[in-house]
Amino acid sequence: MKIDVVTLFGPALDPLLSIGAVGRARARGLVELGFVNPRDFSRDKHRKVDDRPYGGGAGMILMAEPLAAAVKSVRKKSSRVVFLSPQGRRFAQADARRLAKLKHLILVCGRYEGVDERAAALFDEEISIGDYVLSGGEPAAAAVADAVLRLVPGVLEKAEAAERESFAEDGALDYPQYTRPRVWRGKKVPAALLSGNHEEIALWRRKAARAATRKKRPDLLKARDNALRV
Ligand code: ADE
Repeated sequence: MKIDVVTLFGPALDPLLSIGAVGRARARGLVELGFVNPRDFSRDKHRKVDDRPYGGGAGMILMAEPLAAAVKSVRKKSSRVVFLSPQGRRFAQADARRLAKLKHLILVCGRYEGVDERAAALFDEEISIGDYVLSGGEPAAAAVADAVLRLVPGVLEKAEAAERESFAEDGALDYPQYTRPRVWRGKKVPAALLSGNHEEIALWRRKAARAATRKKRPDLLKARDNALRV
């Protein structure tokens, strides 16, 4: 799979996606990440990519043409073009799973003042990572790229790892994890996890996952209430 990020700030984004499982998968050539700078497609001698808003107002607006040219330079028939914006549909694990099946994803970052509305025709969909406003789409692109790429087969060391985690198929949070020491600041590791009994461990984990979900994210349980009961 390849993701191209259309951004004015590729060098800032790259290090974040060079660490951990995604970084290793990139190094192995299993997944590819490219950065496309709209400034390289500016027709202006000063490489200008933004201008003042018609009708007045503060801030600068990204012009449609450099974005369109940047997208065009990497777009193929199989590409899906996603615009990151606080006005988009809220990104969730199901979207990460859907996008991870693609061959080529193009993530387009805006800046907070906005993008010329006529550029909307370039995008297949618009995604928001949450109901708050970032200064630009870059942190959102990093979040989406990470969530998607870690689901590409082979990126995580164990295939099950991705499935077992929070927001996986069963709609519950992940179960709590513990490591050494057995007692830390007076707090013990739950006995079931030390039992060596796989069934007992699995049962404890299902119950603990449900308890964590009920306590921290009761909203997730509503739809999946019955599927999870142990
Ligand atoms: N750009 C600015 N804010 C954003 C958000 N919440 N999600 C995605 N892209 C954004």
